[in-house]
Amino acid sequence: MVIVYESKTGFTKRYAEMLAMKTSLKVFHVKEISMINKDEEIIFLGWMKVGIIQGLDKVRRYNVIAVCGSGTGRTAEPDVETIVVRNKIEGIPFFLFARRLFTVKKNKGHRPNYAVNICKDTEKTQR
Ligand SMILES: Cc1cc2nc3c(=O)[nH]c(=O)nc-3n(C[C@H](O)[C@H](O)[C@H](O)COP(=O)(O)O)c2cc1C
Repeated sequence: MVIVYESKTGFTKRYAEMLAMKTSLKVFHVKEISMINKDEEIIFLGWMKVGIIQGLDKVRRYNVIAVCGSGTGRTAEPDVETIVVRNKIEGIPFFLFARRLFTVKKNKGHRPNYAVNICKDTEKTQR
């Protein structure tokens, strides 16, 4: 499992690097996507631009198992369901990271879905 991100001004990059630090997963910028095996599980982080998750189109043919949108909105705008439909990520877990530094709960063990749990915790701590 790896982390892939798209970032313009650096906030999403920072989230990706924090997630990588906590999970010991490797982190790649989306422009490095060709280095990643098609079967590799990917947690994708992209910045939100009018409800569209930036960079997502570049990873669609890959094995994306979770998507995180980073934006300034306190909540998903207009709402999570619309974002999921608009970004065509039905069936893939979606998490919203508002522009605030997050604290991550310490999770014992290193389960395959450990990073996804951290995404969940991250989202919760921001509510
Ligand atoms: C044109 C534009 C549209 C944006 N639309 C949204 C949006 O729909 N929802 C949101 O939460 N943030 C929105 N934002 C805020 C960005 O997602 C936010 O600044 C983000 O942290 C940028 O990520 P980056 O630092 O990784 O580039 C928008 C910003 C710009 C410039």
